[in-house]
Amino acid sequence: MRPGVTTSLSVDGARLMRRIRTLAEVGAIPGGGCNRLALTDADRDGRDLVVAWMKELGLTVSIDTVGNIVGVWEVGSGAPVMTGSHIDTVRTGGMYDGNYGVLAGLEVIESCQGAGIVPSRPLAVGVFTDEEGARFAPDMLGSLVYVGGMSVESAHDVVGIDGARLGEELERIGYLGATPCPGRIPHAFVELHIEQGPLLEVDGVRIGAVTGVQGISWQEVTIDGQSNHAGTTPMHLRKDPTYVAAALTVFVRDLAERYGGNQVCTVGKIDVHPNLTNVVASRVAMTLDVRNTVEEILQKAEAEIAEYCATLADLEGVSVTRRSLARFEPVIFDDRIVHLVERVAGQRGDSVQRMPSGAGHDAQMLARVCPSGMIFVPSHKGLSHNVNEHTDESDLVAGANVLLDTMLQLTEFQL
Ligand code: GLV
Ligand code: MN
Ligand code: MN
Repeated sequence: MRPGVTTSLSVDGARLMRRIRTLAEVGAIPGGGCNRLALTDADRDGRDLVVAWMKELGLTVSIDTVGNIVGVWEVGSGAPVMTGSHIDTVRTGGMYDGNYGVLAGLEVIESCQGAGIVPSRPLAVGVFTDEEGARFAPDMLGSLVYVGGMSVESAHDVVGIDGARLGEELERIGYLGATPCPGRIPHAFVELHIEQGPLLEVDGVRIGAVTGVQGISWQEVTIDGQSNHAGTTPMHLRKDPTYVAAALTVFVRDLAERYGGNQVCTVGKIDVHPNLTNVVASRVAMTLDVRNTVEEILQKAEAEIAEYCATLADLEGVSVTRRSLARFEPVIFDDRIVHLVERVAGQRGDSVQRMPSGAGHDAQMLARVCPSGMIFVPSHKGLSHNVNEHTDESDLVAGANVLLDTMLQLTEFQL
């Protein structure tokens, strides 16, 4: 049977939830979340589970030179319609971020197989390495290499927050594959993901048709001052990096509030050395995560931050050095796919709205090589990168059905 304009086929919600819960047991942490930082033993165990599921479905599984896993249901002809996401997590992650998109992709294929539907093109599911960037920067590293935006050698040379080298970790966990990068270009790519923000829930809407992803600027700021005695060093003689780090933290918070709109700024990591009560610190290394949907505004924010760092260095007599960890311009998704998501959600009777993504996603990298888009479902209280991340089962199943219809329709689209 060929998929028509509409199909009465639906995914098996119970089977999807079983897989989500089983994968969440790998690297489980108290509170219901997961710790599967990229290329750790837990990430390997999660990968092993997903690869086993892919093989059970009869998919052709390949592992590329940066560890991306692609499972292809080899039916029909031509380039595949691809979905996928990631299964690495931040250290205190939830059970849905990324995992949902990968497992919904498997569910779409299994549902088609069960119903005897044979699409006119192959369907593929990608599990991209190190989407989070929490251990190895930049984020979306695997999909970036997949589309040729970073060389395999540069990716292998990335050193993580624990000093490990990415290439060695890939080899250690058995996921240094032989399939070359850049990878096979799909006919189209569509990623299903939880929103990770509050908008759909607040608006009472079930499906987000994602229009694009905001630009991302990550930098590491290292402040070198002078270590000294906390009791004897007069305030005017200090070269105190913790003071500078605090001032910079307040500055970026104020900047985001001043700019308004969707400007966001985050200081998520601060390392103080030597980190002792009675010692003026010698060094602080901190990160800045700055995002905006408009490239020009993002550049303006970066310029203001650079200028303020120089001012602080002069004022306090410290040195401030900045190193870019990730820099991606805003991405606009293919309007035909945005429109398709709206249409199939409407046909399913789901409320749907267009929206940009605040988070980074693998789809933004695939958008460099093929028509791409995303589907969002609500995140309870907008929580993500948090063990309490939650999406109602009915929304997860609805999103998977929208993915099913979107993928089948895309097999028939001339793009
Ligand atoms: C990736 O998850 C990001 O947006 O930080
Ligand atoms: Mn994600
Ligand atoms: Mn994430």
